[in-house]
Formats: sequence, C-alpha cells, structure tokens
Amino acid sequence: MNIVLVGMMGAGKTSVARRLGWALNYEVADTDYLIEKNQKQTINEIFSSCGVEFFRNLETEVIKNYLNHQKLVMATGGGILLTEGNLSLLKQIGYVIYLKVRRSTLFIRLKRSKRRPLFDASNTQKFYDLVDQREHIYEEADLVINTSHLSVQAVANRIILMHKSKFDRPNGVINESI
Ligand code: S3P
Repeated sequence: MNIVLVGMMGAGKTSVARRLGWALNYEVADTDYLIEKNQKQTINEIFSSCGVEFFRNLETEVIKNYLNHQKLVMATGGGILLTEGNLSLLKQIGYVIYLKVRRSTLFIRLKRSKRRPLFDASNTQKFYDLVDQREHIYEEADLVINTSHLSVQAVANRIILMHKSKFDRPNGVINESI
C-alpha cells in the first residue's frame, strides 16, 4: 500500500519518506523536489518570480501524475492540503499520514532553514499562527502520528510496523507513548 506523508515544514516528511523507501523498497516521490526539478528553479525562486498560487498549482499537477503508481512513498510540501481537492487526490494515491510535531519544536528546527519562503525566523507568532490555521486540515489525514520526540528512524519503524498490518488500527491517532 502506498504511503503519503503530510504535515508542516520541518516535520521530517522527506527524511522519513527516504527511510521508508529504503526499508520497503518503494519509490520515493518528494513534491518539492519534483517541482524544483521540473521548473529548473528553487522553491524560493518560484515563489518570488511566479507567486504562491502558481506553486500550489504545480503541486496539484505533480500529485496527479502519481494516481496510478504502486509501491510509492510520497513526501509532500507543507502547504499541499491548502488546495481544495488535494487531500482527496492524496487519499486516492495512498494512506495519508500526518506527522505531527509540536510547533515550538518545528520552529527551532526551521530556524536554520533558508529554503522556505513562508518561514520567517524573526517572527515566532506568525509561524505559530500558520500551524494553528493548518492543524485541522492535517488532522483529516487517515492517521496522525505525534512525532515530536521521535527520531526519523523511530517514526519510520512505527509506520513500517503499521504498514505490515495494512494500517488496520481502530483508532486513527498514534501517540508517541505507545
Ligand atoms: C511550504 C512548505 C515547503 C514548500 C514551500 C511551501 C508550506 O515544503 O512546499 O516552501 O506552505 O508549508 P516542506 O514542508 O517540505 O518544507
């Protein structure tokens, strides 16, 4: 079964997807990487030259290409669910997992990042507001995993375990304590 990772920037989607791809021998698709490759521009350049709406359309185009793929792990950009219809497309592609990380932890992780146009390291509240605005959309994933205190490997291991049982859990929220 395909796996799709969603969540805020800094949640570790790309790193976890790579681990999963390696462990399961699945193809890894990273929407940010694919967009940069197709456009031959960095995300920063795309945002500044063509704007956020243009970027959001590219995200939708990219995921549509994966509707019939098998043995796939997809890491998505943090804003992908803001576009109406994308959640439904992603659910058609695979099992959608929200990697949930405490916002203060995300902020610390992101402080060193220079490649995220929507992140402003000098404005904590702005970032917290962004997380709060998006939280309810991410929560519509098939599964939520609280990963604030987990390493990339530990997150991947949990997903692999659940993948083996085809994600047949009665409850859609996994907390890091179990
Ligand atoms: C964005 C997150 C980024 C990237 C772009 C916009 C967002 O991806 O798609 O900068 O709106 O949250 P990551 O979540 O991989 O950082």
